[in-house]
Amino acid sequence: MNGLSSRKLHFILVPLIAQGHMIPMVDLARLLAERGTRVSLITTPVNAARIKTIVNRVEESGLPIDFVELQFPCTEAGLPEGCENMDLLPSEDYLRTFFEAMHLLREPLARYLHAQRPRPTCMITDMCNPWTADLARELRMPRLIFHGPSCFSLTCFALMQQHGIYDRITDDFEPILVPEMPQPFEVTKAIAPGFFNVPGWEKIRSGIQEAESTADGVVMNTFDDLEHSYIELYKKVTGKKVWTIGPLSLYNKDLDDKAARGNNSAIDRHRVMDWLESRKPKSVLYVSFGSIAQTRPCQLIEIGCGLEASNQPFIWVIKDVERTPEVDKWLSEGFEERVSTRGLVITGWAPQVVILSHPAIGGFMTHCGWNSILEAMSAGMPMITWPFFGDQFLNEKLLVDVLGIGVAVGVKVPFHYVPKDSPPAAKRDDIQKAVSRLMDEGEEGEERRKRAKELAGKAVRAMEEGGSSFENIALMIQYALEHGNDDPEEEEHNV
Ligand SMILES: *[C@@H]1O[C@H](CO)[C@@H](O)[C@H](O)[C@H]1NC(C)=O
Repeated sequence: MNGLSSRKLHFILVPLIAQGHMIPMVDLARLLAERGTRVSLITTPVNAARIKTIVNRVEESGLPIDFVELQFPCTEAGLPEGCENMDLLPSEDYLRTFFEAMHLLREPLARYLHAQRPRPTCMITDMCNPWTADLARELRMPRLIFHGPSCFSLTCFALMQQHGIYDRITDDFEPILVPEMPQPFEVTKAIAPGFFNVPGWEKIRSGIQEAESTADGVVMNTFDDLEHSYIELYKKVTGKKVWTIGPLSLYNKDLDDKAARGNNSAIDRHRVMDWLESRKPKSVLYVSFGSIAQTRPCQLIEIGCGLEASNQPFIWVIKDVERTPEVDKWLSEGFEERVSTRGLVITGWAPQVVILSHPAIGGFMTHCGWNSILEAMSAGMPMITWPFFGDQFLNEKLLVDVLGIGVAVGVKVPFHYVPKDSPPAAKRDDIQKAVSRLMDEGEEGEERRKRAKELAGKAVRAMEEGGSSFENIALMIQYALEHGNDDPEEEEHNV
């Protein structure tokens, strides 16, 4: 007999503290709470401050979510003070230190978990947090891995791993046909690198693999109608239970929720809306490259020139850290004035889902991070693909070759293979051409828009009552009910 009701279920969500990983988990926390379970979302002070608006809204609405702020031991770990998110690292050299520092959250999290009565029922933890595995075991909670990337890329990585391709390969640019994929396609290790498959990361990598192989299942931010054959293949290859529960961004229905996502916005959403109101439907290109990848000054200037040459209205997001004196000078000495009637430059965090869901937006130039793709897809947006690293090149293949809703800008090599002083990866002509192709009102453009719109319909249906993701969330909750620790006597003994 199982005495638990979903009212007493308590999920522990442990995201990696990086924008792309936190955002869907914060959506998931609210979604689970709305479906009747209690949720604790583990975070840190700096990251909690970024979602303050959401935290306040959750409090007002009475959703049963605890945002648990654990102290992140920056200085102890060798990171600068306050460096609690991947986008705050002074340079890539700190990345491994950051990952190691995450492990120091183990003790404070253990104290929090052990103090909970009744015992928490189920843990959903980011792939990058293998240090949570023995905690879940200690508390006899089922542990599910949260995977942020597309199932297409995860499956591809898993197949390459299983077929020993990563062990055998000596040249990162050797063409490889990925075995077992439903349709044959070619990659290189450079564009399909797997996770942390680089010298110096062996320990972290094997920890992650171990934690994944012992997990009770996998939760993915995708949906059945989008990646059905890859989801089936992933299950077969890994032998894991999989719940696909996305696109999680669709949890956010009203504009205030959409605007509060991720980080404190650098621009008032009403200002963006007013700007968009005056534009023709589907006429504006939105350009943004996520939270981590930094674009060099010469490349930013090239993007600006390409946008200018395209004659298309645009919203262009530039990160704080990218606003070097060189970029500032270039923007202010003519560019901003020349495009003032049709361009809006946002420096810092932009309310992306608000922008993408406005009818005036007609296309999205993206770094192909999976959250960005899902957000745009849910809004029926065709995309210009400009991958930087990780799974992003595979996501580009999915958009361009499989789904037919993307136009590649033509970047072939991950940015870390390119010397810092080399010319820009995409020239203004490439950019201008991609923009004209995407925004084109002829047949090719129309077809692409039609496919994008169909996908948006499927995405929305997946999250609605009766849809596949909606049902999968119920099944996941059911799994936690059946497998979660619920023996009150057992608990007494252990107190
Ligand atoms: C998020 O906001 C913080 C504080 O304003 C800022 O330092 C950080 O760069 C922002 N992150 C991104 C990716 O914009």
